[in-house]
Amino acid sequence: MQSPQRNFCDKIVSAESVSRSMRRLGAYVGATYTAFMQWPTPTGRIIIAGGSGFLGRSLAHRLCDAGCDVVILSRHVPAVDGPWTWRQWDARTLRSWVDELDGATGLVNLAGRSVDCIKSPEHCDTILRSRVESTRVLGQAIRRVAVPPPVWVQMSTAHIYGDPPVVVCDEDSAIGYGLAPTVGMAWEEAFAHAVLPAMRSVILRTSFVIGRGGGALQRLSKLVRFGLGGTVGTGRQGISWIHQLDMNRLFERAMTDTAMSGTYIATAPQPVSNREFMQELRRAMRMPIGLPALEWMVRLGAPLVLRTDPELALYGRYCVSKRLAEEGFTFEFSTLQSALAELFGAH
Ligand SMILES: NC(=O)c1ccc[n+]([C@@H]2O[C@H](COP(=O)([O-])OP(=O)(O)OC[C@H]3O[C@@H](n4cnc5c(N)ncnc54)[C@H](OP(=O)(O)O)[C@@H]3O)[C@@H](O)[C@H]2O)c1
Repeated sequence: MQSPQRNFCDKIVSAESVSRSMRRLGAYVGATYTAFMQWPTPTGRIIIAGGSGFLGRSLAHRLCDAGCDVVILSRHVPAVDGPWTWRQWDARTLRSWVDELDGATGLVNLAGRSVDCIKSPEHCDTILRSRVESTRVLGQAIRRVAVPPPVWVQMSTAHIYGDPPVVVCDEDSAIGYGLAPTVGMAWEEAFAHAVLPAMRSVILRTSFVIGRGGGALQRLSKLVRFGLGGTVGTGRQGISWIHQLDMNRLFERAMTDTAMSGTYIATAPQPVSNREFMQELRRAMRMPIGLPALEWMVRLGAPLVLRTDPELALYGRYCVSKRLAEEGFTFEFSTLQSALAELFGAH
């Protein structure tokens, strides 16, 4: 027969384990609910500043398909026609385009000169100014309209963490060293001043977006087709990436999930080394060979042949998003293999 003392202890132990199990069950149900919850689709008029490029057009198509009225702000008539409205701006001064913001349901700002170029002083200057000035003028514009959009989704870069060779960066990591971190910080600082306190604001520090219709994957896949898609440099540099479809899902969620706010890294959960990335790309493209590019070849060839910055290929970073994981964002493509298989039809 058990002593009353033992009986009492057993009860405490079992009460504790029940409460632990309940807590676990609660967390599981919560995570499952968040993971499978469907976020409402954006509606109404959405303004995409700098929306004429690779990411902007892709997002605009998706939003238009969902029934939104999309307005792209760009300096030139977009090279490709689409179901959106185009309004000209110079990304620096207030003109009639401002009216489009009145009563809009969301603002997405992607404007910025491509960083895929030789880093001459002139290019560096434009890379910085195109981002800071466009963000500033959007801030002035939303102060001019009667009903500003309730949410502003702002592009930023995962390159803000610099090029750490080994460290895995998340939203809590320190900002890195170099041009990209300097530009990223100035861009985000301009945004902090531009956004209205009443607006919900989301910054997406975005990694390498792999998709169709643009971006650096196009260039890489050309090299692979020519048998030049081997390891670059040491091959140890990190490549953090996100599939275009997940990027668009993230933009959409940022626009409609009122709990999302602040800074996130827009990246799939499994960054890889350059060696692995090139291997998987060759496999997806069914290319059996890929000549490696030694560092000296890249330093010579990138500016001369590809007219770009060799360091974009020689350095990299491993990033993950702690916040997206905590907030239950699920990726349709969480492995590089699945993402490339979808893009190159290898499944
Ligand atoms: N693609 C990626 O993997 C990736 C990753 C991280 C961050 N991002 C950032 O996301 C944004 C969009 O990327 P994307 O791949 O769509 O780039 P993109 O195809 O080069 O498009 C860039 C957009 O910015 C505008 N723009 C270019 N130069 C400008 C200037 N000097 N002043 C004002 N606007 C200018 C362009 O509009 P116009 O019609 O006016 O030229 C275009 O709409 C960029 O800021 C990029 O840095 C992209």
